[in-house]
Amino acid sequence: MPAREAPTDLTGRALAEPAASADLARLDEVRVRWLGKKGVLTEQLKSLGALPVAERPAAGARINEAKVAVQTAIDARRAELEAGEIKQKLTAGRIDVTLPGRGEEPGGLHPVTRARLRIEQLFRDVGFTVAQGPEIEDDFHNFTALNHPPDHPARALHDTFYIEKGDAPDGALLRTHTSPVQIRSLRAAGGRLPLAVIAPGRVYRVDSDATHTPMFHQVEGLLVDTDVSFANLKSILHGFMEAFFERDLAMRLRPSYFPFVEPGAEVDITCVECGGKGCRLCKHTGWIEVLGCGMVHPNVLRSCEVDPEHYSGYAFGMGIDRLAMLRYGVNDLRLFFESDLRFLRQFRGG
Ligand code: PHE
Repeated sequence: MPAREAPTDLTGRALAEPAASADLARLDEVRVRWLGKKGVLTEQLKSLGALPVAERPAAGARINEAKVAVQTAIDARRAELEAGEIKQKLTAGRIDVTLPGRGEEPGGLHPVTRARLRIEQLFRDVGFTVAQGPEIEDDFHNFTALNHPPDHPARALHDTFYIEKGDAPDGALLRTHTSPVQIRSLRAAGGRLPLAVIAPGRVYRVDSDATHTPMFHQVEGLLVDTDVSFANLKSILHGFMEAFFERDLAMRLRPSYFPFVEPGAEVDITCVECGGKGCRLCKHTGWIEVLGCGMVHPNVLRSCEVDPEHYSGYAFGMGIDRLAMLRYGVNDLRLFFESDLRFLRQFRGG
């Protein structure tokens, strides 16, 4: 660069160049050319010594002024270019929220929900209504009114989650079964009988392995009328099982104990995996257990102000998750509650 060029002339060009720089890289070239270590103005400062002593201060001052002016012009242009870049990025990244989505995937109902809706529909078809009760229950509805006297050992059959004092009214617990809804529905009926309800919902027990989760789903059934017989119970359950699994099934009842029914039974159906021949699922018995049931205990009717001399009823309780596992061939209950989409997607549609 010609070091002898007069600084003032140079400043005109030096000021024009930043403004003409199209981008930050060009602008930096301009900075190097004028202000860099070997830049024009730097060189001029270095060559001040060649001037007569008397001229040096004035020439030095002019060069320094020129440097400041050039630097200011460069800074201004840089700010301009940077702002432009941000704006460009913002515009490029702008999302048109009015565009239709790409690859819309239809959602699907959770297999447990599908099993529940199916159960509800099948019972609605034969005249039951759907009832609900709270998941945080009290001792009265979960146990006492269901004929568990205060110190009855059957209370220990359910590993109950109790709610700490202070967090809820005394004696609050997470319901261990849907049977308390029997009590709530019967009391709500206030003597307007017959009553036929099913009550699906979440229940809780301290238990966790491949076939037990601390929260699971049950559906309760209750029918109270005059002259209800055990045969009525057996036939509605058999009809339900065949409809739910869409096949002919044998059913057997084994006597069992639940404080709120008498007599009580556990119900097995033909193994849906092997058709009764014997396999791992049914532990080579050909049968799988699906529910508990029985005739409503007179004490339960009395606790709901229903006269057991005039009325009788049946009740049953089954695991929705278990029925869903059997229907869809799922071998680990925990899969239902892990929300793994690879598992859940298999149930989409259909
Ligand atoms: N509540 C019982 C249980 O959870 C099932 C049941 C319901 C049994 C109704 C008899 C009658 O194990």
